[in-house]
Amino acid sequence: MAKLAVLGGKQAAKGLNIPAWPFVDREDERMLVKVLKGRRWCRIYPGSWAEKFEKAYAKWNQAKYAIAAANGTVTLELSLKAGGVKIGDEVLVPAVTFIASASAISEVGAIPIFVDVDPGTFQISPEALEASITKRTKAVIAVHYGGYPVNFDKIIPIVRKHKLLLVEDCAHAHGTEWKGRPVGSIGDFGSFSFQESKSLSSGEGGAILTNNKKYYEEASIIHNIGRVVGKPGYGHFILSSNYRLSEFQAGVLLSQLSRLTQQTNHKYKMGEFLAKELNKIGGVDSLPRDKRITKRGYYFFIIKYDARQFGGVHRDKFLSALRAEGVPCGAAYGVPLYKNYAFCRAQIEKVLPSRVVGKLPNYEKLYLPVAENFCANQQITLWHPLLLTDRNGIQKIIDTVAKIKENIDELKKV
Ligand SMILES: Cc1ncc(COP(=O)(O)O)c(C=O)c1O
Repeated sequence: MAKLAVLGGKQAAKGLNIPAWPFVDREDERMLVKVLKGRRWCRIYPGSWAEKFEKAYAKWNQAKYAIAAANGTVTLELSLKAGGVKIGDEVLVPAVTFIASASAISEVGAIPIFVDVDPGTFQISPEALEASITKRTKAVIAVHYGGYPVNFDKIIPIVRKHKLLLVEDCAHAHGTEWKGRPVGSIGDFGSFSFQESKSLSSGEGGAILTNNKKYYEEASIIHNIGRVVGKPGYGHFILSSNYRLSEFQAGVLLSQLSRLTQQTNHKYKMGEFLAKELNKIGGVDSLPRDKRITKRGYYFFIIKYDARQFGGVHRDKFLSALRAEGVPCGAAYGVPLYKNYAFCRAQIEKVLPSRVVGKLPNYEKLYLPVAENFCANQQITLWHPLLLTDRNGIQKIIDTVAKIKENIDELKKV
């Protein structure tokens, strides 16, 4: 039996060929220089690069409208504002996500209400969601965590029944499809991030999608400090902030978008292969394959670790062993979101109006069991560039996991 790397043995995944991320080529360079020399670096004029990108991105996602913005946090704020969320409204959000999904809610003066996740998919639980609705609930931020879609078949009827705004947080989900339809315009708004680590990147950046003309027009004006896009001047229709994307980022995004289909398809194919083989090992299951998920975009490949099938070895020890073998891996954001210091009373009082603070839940006492167990014991995440490797690379990952399982008695002693 091969000795584990964590015990001084040879690395099973040595030489794993993971392409550097973000991906850069001559076309990105060409676009940047083109924008630079064009001397129009802000999108306020008609025919901007941002406008071209918006059209291309809306088309790529089969959506009617897109608005490019500075990042994937303000796109959530923009969606909530344009969707009519007001100070003191409650907005439901899953407990397993990045902080922006909740801080965007407090940034508009609303109250984040955490909802537990489903024990099978680890996406927002439709049952827990419905149970969390009160007369103050105005919206839901449904995060496609890791790129795995939420259960639209259950969530859409709930939001319709209760007349709630549905914002899809698609920061992880470029390319994900539900029943043949890209995510992002199935709800009222889809919010995307193009931050450096994401599947489509311009360092910083974001976009919203919508099929609703009224929402589009409202969001477009809000994002441009109250002005109509393409009409520079000093006529402002609403008091607002500046959420615009720079022309340099729009240029890079256009160039990056030209390879997104190929990258998404490759990652999907590798992800399917990895899922199938990992599921044979036992104790390292992928998220469920579901026929309604016609394509899976990836930010994380999520593995559900079961210590009982690994001789009781804790997930964290398994992660150390996997890293030692040469497979980069982690446990994403570590804890359910409400456990962040930012949610303690003293901190939240600094950011929300006092009349809202009195209505807040006690985040410090919150305990959502599925989210807690998932974060502490089960979740393993592989970052998406790993899926850009080839079949041999994926096979190395599979063999490495199998090697650790074979040597589990040795790992137990460490
Ligand atoms: C789920 C989720 N939502 C929103 C964001 C915010 O995106 P940005 O970093 O572009 O502000 C992120 C960023 O990582 C995210 O992971």
